[in-house]
Amino acid sequence: MEWTETLATGITTIDSQHRELFRRINDLVLAIKQHRCKSEIDGMIKFLDDYARVHFSEEERHMRETGYGGLEAQRGDHEKYLAALAGLKEQASLPRFQVGSYDLSATTNQVVVDWIVGHILKLDMRFAEYLKSKGMDH
Ligand SMILES: [Fe+2]
Repeated sequence: MEWTETLATGITTIDSQHRELFRRINDLVLAIKQHRCKSEIDGMIKFLDDYARVHFSEEERHMRETGYGGLEAQRGDHEKYLAALAGLKEQASLPRFQVGSYDLSATTNQVVVDWIVGHILKLDMRFAEYLKSKGMDH
């Protein structure tokens, strides 16, 4: 999964946090494929969880402060990501993880990657357009 300019919202903080999320998700997929130890993988999932929470609350605060009407939809989508990560964490802790690591990296790709790309392209872009339309994008 590569970051491309089509994913840029034009909002500097949001974009740099998205790039970091992409980087960390790629690291995780690679770590799973390389059968790295469970504690390392757990640590990476934990980072993704913590980082996403910080990013989400910043995004939501930004939306609240600018009177954006799509806040609730955004919140619901953020919850979905955290749930997907929780599912991944659970799967990673199963004993069959050692043999089923291919499945886990596929799940990571599908669930987490699909989510983030869809989320950025749909919801975050809509917010960026809202800011632009209000002249609040700087
Ligand atoms: Fe976002």
